[in-house]
Amino acid sequence: MLDAELIAARERRGGEAPRVLDVGGGSGVLAVPLAVEGCAVTVVEPSPNALATLHRRAQEAGVADRITAVQGDSDALDQLVAPAAADLVLAHGLLEVVDDPKATVAALVGVVAPGGALSVLVANRFAAVLHRAISGRLVDARKLLDDPAGVLGGAGEALLRRFDTESLRALLADTDLAVELIQGQGVVSDLVTGSVLEVSAGAPDALAELELAAAVTPALRDIATRLHAIARR
Ligand SMILES: C[S@@+](CC[C@H](N)C(=O)[O-])C[C@H]1O[C@@H](n2cnc3c(N)ncnc32)[C@H](O)[C@@H]1O
Repeated sequence: MLDAELIAARERRGGEAPRVLDVGGGSGVLAVPLAVEGCAVTVVEPSPNALATLHRRAQEAGVADRITAVQGDSDALDQLVAPAAADLVLAHGLLEVVDDPKATVAALVGVVAPGGALSVLVANRFAAVLHRAISGRLVDARKLLDDPAGVLGGAGEALLRRFDTESLRALLADTDLAVELIQGQGVVSDLVTGSVLEVSAGAPDALAELELAAAVTPALRDIATRLHAIARR
């Protein structure tokens, strides 16, 4: 899906490299492959350790010249990045950890170029309930279900909140971008065990096809491990 976005961005720019801004880009899990594909990527990331790993990965992949790493926080995005200067803005795994998701989304929206898109990937609170229950952690599953933010709190919880389809849609609907899509990630593939893939030679392909269909089937999307939204200017 991001591939199609990048092809469209390149066309809009008359063949020039798509400009990608990866906020909370961590150690470059997305940024490095995107740079390898020819994008000009800026990563905004507060963690110096993550940035050091990003730097090493970019060097190893031979794309250090296509990645600009900026140490900073999404709160200060308007001071770090020019407005409306990114064809694709990534906020993957970010909105669960920031202090104020609404303010972060507003800042992210401000850097999307005309015709460009914001890609948001968040953890789904209902999937977290199911995954705890399936692994036998029934008390935690119930606590997660009852908690309005979909988190357990305490030392074992890395996230400040999880989302569901409606809360994600509401967060994005409050902006001047058009929400084009909300789909699931890891609907079925995160639930089946490895042995399912050994049932037949065609099982991996069958699972991939099932996953694609399930990702856009609302009732199944709503229990996906992650929710992926695309919003466009
Ligand atoms: C779960 S990781 C996601 C990394 C990467 N986006 C990915 O999808 O693999 C969350 C990242 O957000 C960064 N982060 C936390 N608070 C942030 C903030 N206020 N502004 C920008 N990044 C932040 C963390 O340091 C971490 O690298």
